[in-house]
Amino acid sequence: MGVVASAPAKIILFGEHFVVYGEPAIVLAIDRRAYATVDFTDDKCLHVKSINLNLKGLFKEGIFKVEQGDPREARSRFEPVRLAVEKVLAKSSEATGINVEINSTVPVGSGLGSSAAVVAAVTAATGALLKVEMSKEDVFRITLEAEKSAHGNPSGVDPAIATFGGSIMFQTDTGFTPIEAKSQIPLVIGDTGVERFTRVQVEKVRDMNDNYPQIMEHMRKAAREIALRGINALKQNDVEALGDLMNINQALLYGIGVSDESLEWLINAAKKAGALGAKLTGAGGGGCMIALARDERINEVQEAIMRAGGRPFMARKTDDGVKIERT
Ligand code: MEV
Repeated sequence: MGVVASAPAKIILFGEHFVVYGEPAIVLAIDRRAYATVDFTDDKCLHVKSINLNLKGLFKEGIFKVEQGDPREARSRFEPVRLAVEKVLAKSSEATGINVEINSTVPVGSGLGSSAAVVAAVTAATGALLKVEMSKEDVFRITLEAEKSAHGNPSGVDPAIATFGGSIMFQTDTGFTPIEAKSQIPLVIGDTGVERFTRVQVEKVRDMNDNYPQIMEHMRKAAREIALRGINALKQNDVEALGDLMNINQALLYGIGVSDESLEWLINAAKKAGALGAKLTGAGGGGCMIALARDERINEVQEAIMRAGGRPFMARKTDDGVKIERT
């Protein structure tokens, strides 16, 4: 039967990319989750299977062997899982084989933090299976370490929200601070269907920072101000201000080169249909955008996103971070 754990996807409302440079990001966990089922195996191998990606393989003494799907893709997707399981095994006295099955409702490579959600769920499930005492802080640290192998220099925002859930302000030096956002803000997500890699997008911004440090400094300051004002707007449920701030944030993201045509189509379509604000979410270069709309405009905004070639869906924020579903 095994142990099952789950962790949520996320949207970044304000501050992606700038968070890598120490600025605050405002992040909400949403009601799409990644599930990991973990069990013992008789051999000493780590078996990993992703149901939604149709990938399967095993690690034997660190060597990867693919059993289903593209070998390179399987290897790179499963590498953070291997790192996480090994870190939990190192905390336990057991030398055992482990079987991991992943089933996720989070679109992959879309900026919704699917990779961190998977790794956080695998970490928690493996800890529970091996009866290793682990706090949420431990799950966060292990997920972050594992994510570093996949994303280069991640800020930690994805592992933090996948672990702790809720609405948080995240900053690299101070970690996360929960935000009291009582009401549901009506957000539509639009998936461009264009898959992208966080590492590539983060490298683009690094080049921009190296080439134009003085300009980037001003943009970073603006991003910081947006995030801080965003917290107040969230607390007061001021949707007009939230919309304005999303639009300004999108202009900055466009400026640093992480938006693309597929996102701009959906963002413009949503705004034309009455969204108060719209921006990309996550790393950009494809992936997902988010639009904030009053209830009476939600349907029009969803339809406009669909007509512009995107896949719209509603996101509800959730307080549930990583959790054990079954032991
Ligand atoms: C990815 O969800 C968010 C980025 O800011 C990268 C990171 O913070 O690690 C683009």
